[in-house]
Amino acid sequence: MRQKLVAGNWKMNGSIKANQQLLESLKQGITDIRADIAVCPPFPYLQQVQALLQGSHIRYGAQNVSHEADGAFTGEVSAAMLVDLACTYVLVGHSERRALYAETDERVAEKFVVAQKAGLIPVLCVGESLHERETGETEKIVKRQLDAVLTVAGVDAFRRAVIAYEPVWAIGTGKTASPEQAQAVHAFIRQHLASQTAGASVAQTVQILYGGSVKANNATELFAMPDIDGGLIGGASLKADEFLAICQAAH
Ligand code: G3P
Repeated sequence: MRQKLVAGNWKMNGSIKANQQLLESLKQGITDIRADIAVCPPFPYLQQVQALLQGSHIRYGAQNVSHEADGAFTGEVSAAMLVDLACTYVLVGHSERRALYAETDERVAEKFVVAQKAGLIPVLCVGESLHERETGETEKIVKRQLDAVLTVAGVDAFRRAVIAYEPVWAIGTGKTASPEQAQAVHAFIRQHLASQTAGASVAQTVQILYGGSVKANNATELFAMPDIDGGLIGGASLKADEFLAICQAAH
C-alpha cells in the first residue's frame, strides 16, 4: 500500500502575511490527517516556510531548480541552495515551465538528475495538452516525457522520486479529469515503468499524484482510484480549509 501524498503548488502566489496565516491554519488542521503533506512556495518564501514549519510534519519544496549545479547563471537557484533550506521536494517539468519557459524533456531530465544528486525528491510533472488528448496522443506524450528521464536516470531513480500526472487541459480550468481518465493514465505510467528492465518493483512503489483542478468536492473520488496516490494541488492549496479537506480525502 503506497503512502498518500498531497502537495500544494502555490505557483506565483503568497506574501509574508498570507503565508503565515495559511501555514498556521494548516498546522492546526493536520492533526488527524494520514496523508503526507507538502507545500511548494515561491523561492523567496522558502526560508519563511522553513521557519514556520519547524517541528511540523508538513514538508516543503520548491517549484523549480536550475539544471546547473552552481556558477554564473544569473537568476537561477541551485539544488544545493534548496538543500541548504532543508527542502524535501522540488517540482520539475511543470507544464507551465515546459510551455512558458521552453523547458524541453531533456532539460527537465537534467533538472531531475541534479535535484536527486543533491538529495532532493524530484516531483516529475507529465501530462498532455487538450489537442494531444483529443487526437489520442496522451500515452505517447506521457511516455516521451517519462523516457527522457528514464534514459538519463534509469528506472531505479524513481525509488527516490514522485510523478505527477497533470493533464494541461485540467490545470486551472475547473475541468478536472474524471477519476477514470486519470486512473487510466496513472496505470499506463505504472505499467511503463514496470516494463523497464528491473522496473517491476519500483513501478509498484512510486507515488503517482494527480494534478489539475483538484477540489474538496472531487478529491475523494480521485484518490479512491487504485493508481492515484494523492494530488498536486494548485489554486485550492492557497485556501487552508479547502486544502485541508483535500488532504483529509487522501487516506
Ligand atoms: O501543479 C498543480 C497545478 O498545476 C494544478 O493547478 O489550480 O488546477 O489545481 P490547479
